[in-house]
Amino acid sequence: MEYRSLGKTGLNVSVAGLGCGGNSRLGLGRGASFDDCVAVVRTAVDLGVNFLDTAEAYGTEEIVGAAARSYNRDRLVISTKAIFRGADDTAETVTRRVDAALQRLGLDYVDIFHFHAVNPATYEHHRDVLAPALIKLKEQGKVRHIGITETGPRDPEQKMLARAIEEAPWEVIMLAYSLMNQGARLNIFPTTRRREIGTLLMFVVRNIFSNAAYRRDVSAKLVEQGLLDASVLSDGDPLGFLVSEGGAESITDAAYRYARHEQGADVILFGTGNKDHVRANIDSILRPPLPPPVIERLHASFGHLTGVGLDLPGPVKGA
Ligand SMILES: NC(=O)c1ccc[n+]([C@@H]2O[C@H](COP(=O)([O-])OP(=O)(O)OC[C@H]3O[C@@H](n4cnc5c(N)ncnc54)[C@H](OP(=O)(O)O)[C@@H]3O)[C@@H](O)[C@H]2O)c1
Repeated sequence: MEYRSLGKTGLNVSVAGLGCGGNSRLGLGRGASFDDCVAVVRTAVDLGVNFLDTAEAYGTEEIVGAAARSYNRDRLVISTKAIFRGADDTAETVTRRVDAALQRLGLDYVDIFHFHAVNPATYEHHRDVLAPALIKLKEQGKVRHIGITETGPRDPEQKMLARAIEEAPWEVIMLAYSLMNQGARLNIFPTTRRREIGTLLMFVVRNIFSNAAYRRDVSAKLVEQGLLDASVLSDGDPLGFLVSEGGAESITDAAYRYARHEQGADVILFGTGNKDHVRANIDSILRPPLPPPVIERLHASFGHLTGVGLDLPGPVKGA
């Protein structure tokens, strides 16, 4: 495994981070048992992953807590989050929800607590009314660092994060980034690098990369809308060249490697409920960058797209 500093938090994190939400939720999403889900987490940690991301909304905090008890707590970086919808939420609500998360995790502290999926419309309430409670919890040692995550599907232009990365108290952000959603390359990473804000990348491999039929459907619609050149469909799969010419083992391999080597990417989150996918994804994240001409082609063909592949959890059409 390779490790790096997460912004200026002082945390040393694995470049591959296990996402315990998304569509798979460690396997809970398709009915796996608690113990099977714990085994997925342990497979990742035994391969050197020390970054685990969970959330109240995923229902996986207990699983992460149970898996964490097999390891030295100091070795792990545990990130969780809660959704606060608007003006009814107060500083007291935040304190109560952090305490409840710690209880579910069975931990005295979390390394990062995030406000989850924050809309541009409620950003100021989070910053001015709710964040002071997190700052107090940080002083008490219950939360080591303060994070904020965007809602990819509802804020594809990343308006909320464009503000947050210029302001206190956010030390870490979670953002959508992939080879078909490259906006952060120009709009977010230059600032997070300059201000040393840690970045956690999600949607790196979502349905659009793991499901070929869905990818073809979405791409055909983009061609119809004039957003993609029809030539991308000439070989059937618009990303087929990543394997045939780019030397990638698979589309998911290419998608992980594309994001991993982006300047400004700290942790590449991968969501799965499958132990073989844990191993494959870590291997991909540790492989060298895609060849420069392939990256140039990805920038030229898809660099103008916004919000592609940012589906909400749930079944999608396709194989
Ligand atoms: N707003 C937010 O804060 C937010 C939003 C979204 C995600 N997240 C975080 O980011 C993490 C990652 O989410 P994501 O959107 O990137 O992914 P995701 O929704 O978990 O999607 C990954 C999908 O790809 C499949 N997959 C994974 N590895 C594969 C492989 N090697 N081959 C084929 N299929 C593979 C998974 O299915 P299998 O189970 O079959 O592997 C899963 O269906 C989440 O777990 C969560 O921690 C946060």
